[in-house]
Amino acid sequence: MADRPHIPVMLDDVLRAASVQPGERVIDATFGNGGYSEAFLRAGAGEVIGLDRDPTVLARADELSKTYEGRFRLVETPFSEMDQHDLPLADIIVFDIGVSSMQIDRAERGFSFQKDGPLDMRMSRSGPTARDAVMTLGADELEAIFRIYGEERQARRAAARIVEARQEADITSTAELVDVIESVIPRSGKIHPATRIFQALRIFVNDELGELYRGLCAAERLLAPGGRLVVVTFHSLEDRIAKQFLRDRAGEFEGGSRYAPAVTHSGPAASFRMPRRSVVKPSRDEEQSNPRARSAKLRMAIRTDAPAHQQDLEWTPAKRALPTLAAIA
Ligand SMILES: C[S@@+](CC[C@H](N)C(=O)[O-])C[C@H]1O[C@@H](n2cnc3c(N)ncnc32)[C@H](O)[C@@H]1O
Repeated sequence: MADRPHIPVMLDDVLRAASVQPGERVIDATFGNGGYSEAFLRAGAGEVIGLDRDPTVLARADELSKTYEGRFRLVETPFSEMDQHDLPLADIIVFDIGVSSMQIDRAERGFSFQKDGPLDMRMSRSGPTARDAVMTLGADELEAIFRIYGEERQARRAAARIVEARQEADITSTAELVDVIESVIPRSGKIHPATRIFQALRIFVNDELGELYRGLCAAERLLAPGGRLVVVTFHSLEDRIAKQFLRDRAGEFEGGSRYAPAVTHSGPAASFRMPRRSVVKPSRDEEQSNPRARSAKLRMAIRTDAPAHQQDLEWTPAKRALPTLAAIA
């Protein structure tokens, strides 16, 4: 089946927040299907540099390089490393966090509980897979992943059942994992019992929250004074990180959350300022026409001319038992 095209979320709001001027340089930190990149090129950006850690975007990136010759290029990298590629300073850096429709739709990527495929879930092609996590982590560790990244209330039961089931037979496919989850979490309402468990594993396997903190710190170093940072997030854990980062950098104290310890204001001059209306939600029309947009939230801030802060913020959950990827590498 042909891929559904990925519909860019909050595109008009992103363009409005970024307010690209003719000739400006944009870093699109999450290239995906290039929806944002192409819109910036059409809106008159002088140069767009797309970043993505998924090599399957390369064909689409080639198309854009040909159509917009000399104005577009793709760098295959995790965005947390964007300042390690000798890129020039940018006027705009935009993040559209999460997975694309193409990634979800391809059964062989293992992201979807609705399609049978290998239990993979990696955006890039390296590192441990969801199968490695499910087959090797202890019950306490799996429980912490499900509870923290999936906000799953049945985390303990699901983790215990997985550990039991894998002693009988390896869990290697998405359908096998769905079967195990369905045997322990009852279906309630419209939400499939596997939804939160799959989200949790995906966030863990791709270190999505650590990437976001490090990506924002790298963007701080790569934005020119007056440059605009635009971040679109899709759930509360992500939004909390964007909010906490921007408050810290704008000199506002932000208390800790249940899982992330408090960040005290580190002292140096504010490296970002937040204009009024720096948080935007999708329009009702967009929410109705694109279900993916429903939980989206956009935050924007403007880089000052103060140096980037020395102290990087990092995702360091206070909750014990949450493993790191290194635990199964
Ligand atoms: C939601 S899609 C972006 C869609 C894009 N804005 C568009 O309009 O087509 C997110 C993309 O970011 C990539 N991505 C997610 N986390 C990343 C990371 N830490 N580093 C680099 N790329 C990442 C994913 O592989 C995916 O292709």
